[in-house]
Amino acid sequence: MTQVITEVKKMQALMKAQKRKGVRIGFVPTMGALHDGHLSMMRRSVKNNDITVVSVFVNPLQFGPNEDFDAYPRQIEQDVAAVETVGVDYVFYPSVEEMYPDKLDINLTVGRLAEVLEGTQRPGHFDGVVTVVNKLFNIVQPDFAYFGKKDAQQLAIVEKMVADFNHAVKVIGVDIVRETDGLAKSSRNVYLTAEERQEAPHLYQSLLLAQAQYDEGVRESNQLVTVIRDHLEVNTSGRIEEVAVYSYPKLEPCEMISGRVFISLAVKFSKARLIDNIIIE
Ligand code: PAF
Repeated sequence: MTQVITEVKKMQALMKAQKRKGVRIGFVPTMGALHDGHLSMMRRSVKNNDITVVSVFVNPLQFGPNEDFDAYPRQIEQDVAAVETVGVDYVFYPSVEEMYPDKLDINLTVGRLAEVLEGTQRPGHFDGVVTVVNKLFNIVQPDFAYFGKKDAQQLAIVEKMVADFNHAVKVIGVDIVRETDGLAKSSRNVYLTAEERQEAPHLYQSLLLAQAQYDEGVRESNQLVTVIRDHLEVNTSGRIEEVAVYSYPKLEPCEMISGRVFISLAVKFSKARLIDNIIIE
């Protein structure tokens, strides 16, 4: 039976007691509106740890003034029922006041890693992410924490935060889970209109076209970016906000592909901004 904990102190005390007993804690931080992508991270955690904690917290610090904080889907009963089916032990579900009782006086700021991609479109977003993840790690004290590769930049930034601040946690990146037509699962897919939902699989298809070009020997990033942009322009009504190739996990721009890179894109539909990526080794 999954227990729902809403207080920071209670969660912290419970986990401290578990750690004293040598229990291995897996942790999946989420903002709720759970889908199969989240559940696959939870299954992995349940398999590899003694207990699994999932946090459900829509973190105001990572939303810009014109973003969807108020509209972000909230469905805690459904979420608790879903995590119960995969064997999650605890849901940490604090209020905003519980997490941020006072205005923060000490701020975390992400440097160069946030100066590209999502960071340029969403100023302050990653500062908000590392702040809440830092707090959640201190509350839950996990041995392993699971993050989706769909937010590849977030994953790279959290890994760097763990290294920079010596958190005693191992971060695990979990593969993107897709709908049968290729659309990456996302809590924001519910914002798509019926027509946009038809177009959305073209995001992944455009990435597969780039992958095919790479497999045929193309190494110029620009050429891959053009293939993706052309495909998106013809097949979607969304505004292309970003198509880029960066080294991974350092997130340095690369004109010629060598080593591990990720190709990422962001498309803004009427109410949903969707991102997707592939990592090429
Ligand atoms: O990926 C998310 O859902 C959020 O950014 C996270 C990691 C739960 C922090 O609020």
